Amino acid sequence: MNIAKMSLLSLALLFPLSGCGGNNASTTEAAQEGNTDAGYQKLDIKLSHVASDNTPKGLAALKFKEIVESESGGNIEVKVYPSGQLYGDNDEIEAVQANNVQIIIPSAAKLSGFEETFEIFDLPFMFKNEEHLRAFEDGEGGQQLLATLDEYGMKGLSFWPNGFKHITNNKVAVDEPSDVKGLKVRTHGGQIINEVYEAMGASSTKIAFNETYQALQLGTIDGQENSIVNIETQKYGEVQSNLTLTSHARSEYAVVTNKQWWDGLEPKTQELLTEAMKTATQEGRNQVEKLETEAIEKIKSEGKMAIVELTDEQKEAFKQAIQPVFDKWAQKMNQDIINKAIEAGN
Ligand code: LMR
Repeated sequence: MNIAKMSLLSLALLFPLSGCGGNNASTTEAAQEGNTDAGYQKLDIKLSHVASDNTPKGLAALKFKEIVESESGGNIEVKVYPSGQLYGDNDEIEAVQANNVQIIIPSAAKLSGFEETFEIFDLPFMFKNEEHLRAFEDGEGGQQLLATLDEYGMKGLSFWPNGFKHITNNKVAVDEPSDVKGLKVRTHGGQIINEVYEAMGASSTKIAFNETYQALQLGTIDGQENSIVNIETQKYGEVQSNLTLTSHARSEYAVVTNKQWWDGLEPKTQELLTEAMKTATQEGRNQVEKLETEAIEKIKSEGKMAIVELTDEQKEAFKQAIQPVFDKWAQKMNQDIINKAIEAGN
């Protein structure tokens, strides 16, 4: 049993399901105060994430807030805490399980302790483009994956985009897999990424997103992998000298809420939140490629990192080097979901 599962168990013992956690009680009281003019219950929703506002996730979160607050006539307030201000990678999942925060938006891989298939986005070169991702996420496979959270006291509401991942480091201009050899690389966690770096002779370590800049600065690690928007907004160029546009895997988020809290909401509120979530998801999708183009332009114009753009042949060499990891994990994860993900690209 992993730590997150254990902590859910201990939380369940501490807070029997009828009155789970501090905020839940006040939410219930607020609901009992009755509807207001706009017909919506009074409610405070805390939404926490670790990225900057000016990212696909940050903007989607603000869109969700805008819609919920205006449609509810201000009865429902969504407090958005970006940049790990409220919770970071190390505590946000436990916080949502305890209903201390109502919505978190971790990289899907951060949920792999519950269901390993959440690492599907880290399968090297699995998803071809945005269309492939959307077809999977909106289809049965994606919805099946979100539903696996139900038994852990959570509910998956949607997938939001971050971007294809690229590698930065401070040691070497990477244009072939052997260049990665010996590097110490920060990842967002999960087994697949570890094995990807192992296959290239490098080592990888999980570090919380909001601690990564410092780890790069101190030289605890040599490099990291992330979306181009995160690389730019986190200012990694200040502490990294090389960027290789590998697009070797995807960073994609799951929007996660507390199931018991959600189930206790008035149906009208659930409907509003569901609709607002659809619009927010669309906002993230609309923003992702635009923000990526802006971010790469900015990185180029700042000139702090040398950028390697791989040829198709060079990309193929990376694919070959990490193919065994793909083969192993594509067989290990939920076969039904994997097949649906492959079909979504056809
Ligand atoms: C990471 O940890 O690399 C990302 O998941 C950060 C984020 O949420 O954008």
